[in-house]
Amino acid sequence: MTAPGLAPTRGLFITLEGIDGAGKSSHVGWLADRWRSLGCEVIVTREPGGTPLGEQLRELVLHQPMDEHTELLLVSAARSEHLRASILPALARGCVVICDRFADSTYAYQGYGRGLSLEWIDALEREVVGAHRPDRTYLFDVPAEVAARRRAAVRPADRFEAQDVAFFERVRAGYHARMLADPERFLRLEGESSIAALREQIAHDCSQLAHFR
Ligand code: TYD
Repeated sequence: MTAPGLAPTRGLFITLEGIDGAGKSSHVGWLADRWRSLGCEVIVTREPGGTPLGEQLRELVLHQPMDEHTELLLVSAARSEHLRASILPALARGCVVICDRFADSTYAYQGYGRGLSLEWIDALEREVVGAHRPDRTYLFDVPAEVAARRRAAVRPADRFEAQDVAFFERVRAGYHARMLADPERFLRLEGESSIAALREQIAHDCSQLAHFR
């Protein structure tokens, strides 16, 4: 039996999403180890980034002032490169690909956060991503106020982290809309839970996914 969206002959594509400060990044390495312990080859990657060109684009997108349309095109360019040069070949080899952010970030940040046309973003996703959507997306969900407090405690802000709480409320609403549109793919995680509780939930999900591979 095959879980919805999972073809048995290929790898597994897992993404982590959430507003800045939701806490997703502290689980990436742990999640990779979890899949390795289940006997899988794993690659860990991120967006924007994941390739030499993508990492250069990331640097620009995070730190260089630019028009929001330019921002959308650059994150999409980085994704196109990343998907074809790295993610798809790894999936074809049967790897588990764990990607810190993917196309849902574009809907949430450029669409809902910046207010760019969702039709345009849809069109870009169709061309750039096509059918290669993630098999599972963990959404670390926290109120924008909570995330803002966490961010303030950490480090100097990049162009996104410097946005106000209203921006992140819109981004969060964008994630909720994505989740409603594709509830089978998403697993919503209560970002204010303890690390141990979150990992227990994710570990349970890994076992389920592994069972269906
Ligand atoms: P993030 O993943 O939070 O990394 P770090 O923890 O190192 O700050 O930072 C990436 C930023 O890029 C994040 O603020 C969201 C933004 N982003 C977009 O706006 N659109 C996208 O399509 C992607 C992939 C990321």
